[in-house]
Amino acid sequence: MLTAVILAAGEGKRMHSRRPKVLHEICGQPMLAHVIGAVRNVCSDIIVVVGHQGEEIKAAVGDSVVYAEQHEQLGTAHAVLQAEPLLPDAGNVLVLCGDTPLLTPDAIEQLYTVHRSAAAAATILTATVPNPFGYGRIVRGPDGEIQKIVEEKDATAEEKMLTEINTGTYAFDIRALREGLVGVKNANAAGEYYLTDCVELIIKSGKKVATSLLPDYRLALGVNDRIQLAEAQSLMQERINRNLMAAGVTMINPATVYIDAGVKVGRDTVIFPNTILRGRTVVGEGCMLGPQTEITDSTIGDGSQVRHSVVTESILEKKVTVGPFCHLRPGTILKSGVKVGDFVEIKNSQVGEGSKIPHLSYIGDAEIGCDVNMGAGTIVVNFDGRNKYKTVVADGAFVGCNSNLVAPVTIGRGAFVAAGSTITNDVPAGALSLARARQVDKPGLAARLLGHRDDEK
Ligand code: UD1
Ligand code: CA
Repeated sequence: MLTAVILAAGEGKRMHSRRPKVLHEICGQPMLAHVIGAVRNVCSDIIVVVGHQGEEIKAAVGDSVVYAEQHEQLGTAHAVLQAEPLLPDAGNVLVLCGDTPLLTPDAIEQLYTVHRSAAAAATILTATVPNPFGYGRIVRGPDGEIQKIVEEKDATAEEKMLTEINTGTYAFDIRALREGLVGVKNANAAGEYYLTDCVELIIKSGKKVATSLLPDYRLALGVNDRIQLAEAQSLMQERINRNLMAAGVTMINPATVYIDAGVKVGRDTVIFPNTILRGRTVVGEGCMLGPQTEITDSTIGDGSQVRHSVVTESILEKKVTVGPFCHLRPGTILKSGVKVGDFVEIKNSQVGEGSKIPHLSYIGDAEIGCDVNMGAGTIVVNFDGRNKYKTVVADGAFVGCNSNLVAPVTIGRGAFVAAGSTITNDVPAGALSLARARQVDKPGLAARLLGHRDDEK
């Protein structure tokens, strides 16, 4: 039973934001959620220290973790001190920052393994980075043993040259941590109680402090501003895309494919450029998505195709074809084999197996059966300015081009609506319904009208 303490009470001044820093999202999830996800495998108990806008953080993260309050943000050691009463009497604890979203479960496990095999009082996860600016530097003695961590603000010119940095991730023996925390002072450039000083105190007390070096420094990125937020986003995106490609997804140009953490994509699916898959989206096998497509919180069945379209909170069963230029809004359910063509908007409607809505339609609050053909330009008139009503089109019906179906209305099974009809009454099964003015032809009148028009010019 290992406990983790995640520090998330800071304001994140350098973000210049109304939102708490750790709630800024990376690949669709708050940074803090990524950190929680990374420690979950290793730690059964997670304590999150909140302070600045703590209520928002609690609302976003929920009750799968325990919270400790830091009312005044006096530094990282002070933050850990607020969680201290919740820690067990003895054993180990991991301490992490809520703003290092790229850490992996493997890196955390490696830290904990080093900590245990070294029987250390503290172990620090470090990284060697090309640009150490802003990070605490690992200062080592002539023997290579760690002596202390010095913060950017307090570092000498020589110390600033050091490229091994503190990732802000630690394993502590709980007793050693308690003893160390008591001694931390705030006599430094920031006037804060630094957790990093606790490490020095533990070393000075003669206890063993180990380090675990990250093999890939990019996992260490701490997000303090929007530039680092964008860097983290791009690194996380690369990781997600590579994992999907390794599992059998083709991406034509992965640099232009944006997929949220947690989205699932089946193998042999091909993703074309400028495609965004968000939230709880699940894509089956052998699909073709994009180019220029945004799919949010939707399920796309095997063998489906979505091109140049926006799909939100919708379910597409198997071998569904959508686009180009469709807008599927929440509550759209397209059964297997449905074809929705260009310039079609659908919301809160179900379309039965094999039905086609090939061109230029609006379908809202409708239930469309199987093998229905909705002609080009068919509009479901679902709203009378006050209320919305339902339209039913039964199996095998044929709706001619440019028809209006004024809800509430039912088109019976196998009925035929003539092109250009405005249907206001139910159409019986099997009936042909014509609801349009009869054509009148006036011989010779065209020339007069055309001539008249010429006179005006
Ligand atoms: C910290 C480390 C630095 C390390 C870097 C890694 C210290 C003193 N410095 O610096 O050595 O290289 O992280 O990214 O620890 N927090 C609180 N309460 C506070 C202050 C901070 O909860 O009073 C939280 C913040 O919300 C944040 C985390 O602690 O999630 C780190 O704080 P931050 O101010 O970002 O520290 P850095 O300057 O990045
Ligand atoms: Ca930071």
